[in-house]
Amino acid sequence: MTLSASDIRRRFLEFFQDKAAHEIVPSSPSVPHDDPTLLFTNAGMNPFVPYFLGVEKAPYSPPRAADTQKCIRAGGKHNDLEDVGYDTYHHTFFEMLGNWSFGNYFKKEAIAWAWELVVERWGLPAHRLYASVYAPKEGDPGNFDQEAYDIWAALFISKGCDPAVQIVHGNVKDNFWMMGETGPCGPCSELHVDLTPEGNPVTGRNLVNNDSDLCIEIWNLVFIQYNAEADGTFRELPAKHVDTGMGFERACSIIQNTNGFTDFSKKPSNYATDVFQPIFRKLEALSGKTYVNIYPELGADRSLFTEEMKTAIAFRVIADHLRTLSFSIADGIMPGNNGRNYVLRRILRRAVRYGRQLGFSGEKPFFGALVATLVAEMGGVFPELKNRQDVVRQTLEQEETSFNQTLDRGLKEFESMVSALLSNHAEYASVLNKSPKADSTLNDELLRISRQFSGVNAFLLYDTYGFPIDLTELLCAERGLEVDMPGFNELMEQQQERSRAAQKSNIVRALDISTEAVTEFLGFENDSVEATILEIHPQEDALFVITDKTVFYAEMGGQAGDTGVMDTDDNQIEITGTQQIGKARAHIIPQSQIAVGDKVTLKLDAARRRPIEAHHTATHLLHWALHEIVSADAAQQGSSVDENRLRFDFNS
Ligand code: ALA
Repeated sequence: MTLSASDIRRRFLEFFQDKAAHEIVPSSPSVPHDDPTLLFTNAGMNPFVPYFLGVEKAPYSPPRAADTQKCIRAGGKHNDLEDVGYDTYHHTFFEMLGNWSFGNYFKKEAIAWAWELVVERWGLPAHRLYASVYAPKEGDPGNFDQEAYDIWAALFISKGCDPAVQIVHGNVKDNFWMMGETGPCGPCSELHVDLTPEGNPVTGRNLVNNDSDLCIEIWNLVFIQYNAEADGTFRELPAKHVDTGMGFERACSIIQNTNGFTDFSKKPSNYATDVFQPIFRKLEALSGKTYVNIYPELGADRSLFTEEMKTAIAFRVIADHLRTLSFSIADGIMPGNNGRNYVLRRILRRAVRYGRQLGFSGEKPFFGALVATLVAEMGGVFPELKNRQDVVRQTLEQEETSFNQTLDRGLKEFESMVSALLSNHAEYASVLNKSPKADSTLNDELLRISRQFSGVNAFLLYDTYGFPIDLTELLCAERGLEVDMPGFNELMEQQQERSRAAQKSNIVRALDISTEAVTEFLGFENDSVEATILEIHPQEDALFVITDKTVFYAEMGGQAGDTGVMDTDDNQIEITGTQQIGKARAHIIPQSQIAVGDKVTLKLDAARRRPIEAHHTATHLLHWALHEIVSADAAQQGSSVDENRLRFDFNS
């Protein structure tokens, strides 16, 4: 009988609990709350860093633990986003099963137990297992890991296998594990499983660390003994520790797809397991499409994929991204504009765009409708997902709806950019063809550059339609094009510079604007209003935009003006302040594409307005109290009221 995913998870944990007194601990959140060096929890060991460093003592007796940890690899040092959907085994979200020794057991036990679980209990044939050991080059940290080699060698010999075949030497990239640029680290031994039909180790060993989906790393045993310091040195830690990580979905894949290691005739995939199948069934029901378990060749030209292939990839991307988003939102991280929040927004937008491949038109959000299926499968092991499922669903629906509003127009714009690019390229190619340069590499380079999707266009898509750069890269890859990333990055930097300047323009005053316009104020009842632009007054780096109506308070009598956004048809423009000019109200925005007569929606930053109101009210209370307590002549001289504080000047 093949084990289910929950059997596999449970058996892993129970093995370490029963065999060697490990304490089973719950997963930490997928987002580290107190580690600014990490965007997301990217390995099972992250929550235990203080124990490795010796800053805190592990609260387990003996000091050993085992768990399944929610991990996200979608930004920073470990980032698998680009591979997701195209192969059988990369994910942005995955569970990492692990066992830990905090200054307790070391290599001998860690390797022996890994062997016992995988070979003896689960039944993986030893000749299908390759163990890698660390073999540094000159200048790399540490030495050849003879100790690990000897332990593995004895185990392989006990099964009649040749250690020289089964043990593979690994370089610093593959066999010296680091959490990030800094932090606890050390040499490691990885377990790779040969999934080829023939299972011949003499040839199979060449597949190790070669990006082959027929030889997959399932478990990494790290022997932590150093801390990577910010200055690039490796400090020896006071004690030695063990940190292991088994890819849960990979373990499910190789066990279930080979029918308990008895049938290697078909290529295993993490997606062909009960971890993903329920999500696919739901997605099939919603889309009316069928999931087919097919994969492109590694590095294949994406512009040549069949519709069936594109659909299969879309199913996998959506299922993967659903898990990443749901778990991180359940852990309190919302999609947004900066840092890890923006990584989530990018992932969501990618998923929504893949939804188009499955025929979701954008009229109705589909993503949130998958949450219940995920919760039914995983809410038992991760109760936070169940408890927060309403927030997760609503957040996904809102994000999807808002992106759908610009996605279609952005895609249309993208198509016309591509056809202009291709026709220019064709013209250029024909010119070069007629009079080629003497140097043929120069010819090739010129042709390549003429096929580049420009940084300017990528920036326009980003700025106007909210296309994250990796979405544009993906769309380009599907047409065999590459994006001029340095060009894009330069424009991004310029924009950040402008927005810093716009923030400064918040304090632009001394206006030389005169106007007869009148703005109606509706901000007592509403937080947003539809308005028409009456006048636009350029001022230094900013535009002062007068509308017929507003909900924005102007800066007045020491009270800060409101901030918020101005929604146009194509864009969301930040309003950094509001000024009263005669009977008109001007909204301060950065230089933007707007015109008199445009209809816009003005939306107040209500979360900022409320404390300003409270502080405003508090100045009245304070004034009253001063009269009561200090003297009747305590008179207001000035005051300053903003969202963070109030100041009240008086004479007495
Ligand atoms: N920390 C090790 C890894 O993530 C186990 O691969």
